[in-house]
Amino acid sequence: MPLVNSKEMFEKAYKGGYAIGAFNVNNMEVVQAITEAANELNSPVILQVSAGARKYAKPVYLKKLVEAAVLDTDIPVVLHLDHGADFETCKDCIDSGFTSVMIDASSKPYEENIALTRKVVEYAHDTSKHPYVTVEAELGTLAGVEDDVKVEFGKSSYTDPNQVEDFVKRTGVDSLAIAIGTSHGAYKFTPAQCTRDARGVLVPPPLRFDILEEVSKRLPGFPIVLHGASSVLQEYVEIINAHGGKMPDAVGIPEDQLRKAASMAVCKINIDSDLRLGVTAGIRKHFDEHPDHFDPRQYLTDARNNCREIVKHKIIDVLGSQNKK
Ligand code: G3H
Ligand code: 13P
Ligand code: ZN
Repeated sequence: MPLVNSKEMFEKAYKGGYAIGAFNVNNMEVVQAITEAANELNSPVILQVSAGARKYAKPVYLKKLVEAAVLDTDIPVVLHLDHGADFETCKDCIDSGFTSVMIDASSKPYEENIALTRKVVEYAHDTSKHPYVTVEAELGTLAGVEDDVKVEFGKSSYTDPNQVEDFVKRTGVDSLAIAIGTSHGAYKFTPAQCTRDARGVLVPPPLRFDILEEVSKRLPGFPIVLHGASSVLQEYVEIINAHGGKMPDAVGIPEDQLRKAASMAVCKINIDSDLRLGVTAGIRKHFDEHPDHFDPRQYLTDARNNCREIVKHKIIDVLGSQNKK
């Protein structure tokens, strides 16, 4: 199946009350793990590439890895630019065959966000130059770290539902990322923002479902995106900490809340940190148990296996996208 854009995928997801997993990729093992898991479960999937990933792996390597995964599987796959910072990066990705891009001008003033998003949409939707490329934009800002941009806790801002209709109408964007309390990275909340359960595990504040509901009332049928949606799986944090790592108080978004969001207007759920934990847990445990090993294929197999299991778990228990290809 060739690469597809996200239009039909989101239409089906919206109607079906599930979401598509958008997983970040940086190397071969993670591309394989995601697409093999999705293929096994007959689930559509989005592979997304950040500016940092393009810098790390070089755009051509990532593109070819994704092409190989498409040949190796039989599911709809979207190749998406994550957090495109400017028009040139979006254009470069569109020209090289990406089927979807995000223009993230959410930190700019509202009118500048509109103008830049509109410019990207005009280029992406111009089918005289390339097939229709879907565009995601963002309103509101998440806390956490993306590439070189760090938004301090307390400096993030929830999406204002009063702006969304105007934004979507004036930009022509295909989907909208909103801020309802998720955040990037493995430390989504400070301990002071959380309570603790009986075992002493941090319990984060709930997502602002009232904002999501208000947004979807204003934009009926329109696909919403959640960034910063890793649950920071504690079983992998525990493996990391048991094998020489140090990640105290790493905390994410509870999966029941993500499942609820997926049953509402949220059609795309972004997951990167959970895969990073899977890779790191696999490698740390392997090194600890096999100090004599030095063949990367040995420990990267464990990393890849963890990621495959994590993606399967997300598809079945969080996204609900199994057998929706
Ligand atoms: O939103 C951020 C993603 O987790 C990508 O992270 O910019 O470090 O590649 P990165
Ligand atoms: P996490 O850090 O929660 O995995 O978020 C990833 C993301 O939003 C990528 O754009
Ligand atoms: Zn993000």
